[in-house]
Amino acid sequence: MNRAIRRSIVLLSVLGACGDAGEPFEPGITPADRAMGQLAFTESCSGCHASSDGFDLRTFGFSDTTIIRRAVHHVDSSSARNIAAYIATLSTPHNPASMKLFQPKGGLVPSDMDFARELFGVDGWPGDMTSARLLGMNPRDVRIAVALPVWSDEKSNLDWMPDTPLPPGILDYAGGHARAAIAGYRAVPTDDNLVRAVNALRTADRAAANPDAPCLLDDSTRVRYRQCFDVRRWTSTLVALHFMRNGMNTAVGGRVHDIWWDVGNAARKSRADRSAPIDNAVGNWVTWMFLGWSFDPSLHSSSYTGGGFRQLGHVRHATFVTLRSQVARARNSTMVYEDLLNAAKFAPPHWTLNAVSFALSHSAERLAAGDRPATAALRAEAVARVNSALTESFKKIPGSDRSKLEALAAPVITGLSAD
Ligand code: HEC
Repeated sequence: MNRAIRRSIVLLSVLGACGDAGEPFEPGITPADRAMGQLAFTESCSGCHASSDGFDLRTFGFSDTTIIRRAVHHVDSSSARNIAAYIATLSTPHNPASMKLFQPKGGLVPSDMDFARELFGVDGWPGDMTSARLLGMNPRDVRIAVALPVWSDEKSNLDWMPDTPLPPGILDYAGGHARAAIAGYRAVPTDDNLVRAVNALRTADRAAANPDAPCLLDDSTRVRYRQCFDVRRWTSTLVALHFMRNGMNTAVGGRVHDIWWDVGNAARKSRADRSAPIDNAVGNWVTWMFLGWSFDPSLHSSSYTGGGFRQLGHVRHATFVTLRSQVARARNSTMVYEDLLNAAKFAPPHWTLNAVSFALSHSAERLAAGDRPATAALRAEAVARVNSALTESFKKIPGSDRSKLEALAAPVITGLSAD
């Protein structure tokens, strides 16, 4: 027996008790109406609401009134009531509508300085920090001072919900690959099928061969920032709902969580569009990039997520992101040295000596273990970054401390310069 029918029998059996059994009594709503409501949701709502079954509206607890108020923009009022009645039958975990999804530890610290104090006990980069200890700090467990997006915000774009459905040019690309992969995921919602759907969408949003791809972020003649932002938010909601349905808070493999980083990149790049940049471009840049980054700190240059925090004046967050990335880098990564330079750029003056000392020591540990950029050209580039890191640091530290950094830099430069 399906759930809608079972529930209506419960409703009938409490009729005599005037509906005081806890369930709202919905006069005139029949099981058939609820079935119609489910159909109407799929047809008229799921283009934007990626859940396709209304899970999102139930799990964030939107009231019948709100559902009907929003639904009548898309369907007639009797369908709207049917949709509300159908959604009321879904059993999902309950979250407040104000929930900031995946906000580390569910809450905020008040400021950049409080972030450091909570993380390290002091407003400074700890002088005794080790690579292993930093690697053991899970960014998913560290409270930050920036609020991640809520599911739905009717007044701003600081939310997950895309304003527009997926365009046909995304769904139809490559013989309808994304359309088929989404249908496959909806039919059998496994991790693997999610990865397939997300990969198809990520390809379609940026493939140069797709004439309708909005996310060619480096091609000013073809990029469409707003559409890119929305396509990526749509894909993001698909991933988020999968995590929520399954009570997951860790990466599922592939680069599924990386679509969240991509949303932030669309916002960041949109600042180049003077005619219509995405609203709250920096806020969206930082929150989405941080979210993606926090699930895998080894990906992407720290100039992006760290640079975003610096734009907001959160230089301690920026330094943490940069050094936490550095220790997570793959073996032989050249980004290790970009992180070193960024630490020198981002760290507040009173953090600079310790933060850059740490980054140099970590670089030396890698070199001692034979972990270094693969070619002579890449190593020369790394040496240039070490020298730039010293130059940047010297702008911020007392002259008497310079020799400390020079002493730590010497073995790094030697290690990079050897054949
Ligand atoms: C064209 C895209 C689109 C379609 C189609 C759509 N929605 Fe939405 N919906 C949104 C967006 C975007 C939001 C987030 C709030 C905002 O930006 O206004 C949202 C938010 C909501 C909310 C939460 C409002 C709040 O109080 O924050 C409800 C409830 C809702 N939609 C119901 C529906 C129902 C039911 C349907 C189908 C009948 C539907 N929507 C169809 C785009 C859509």
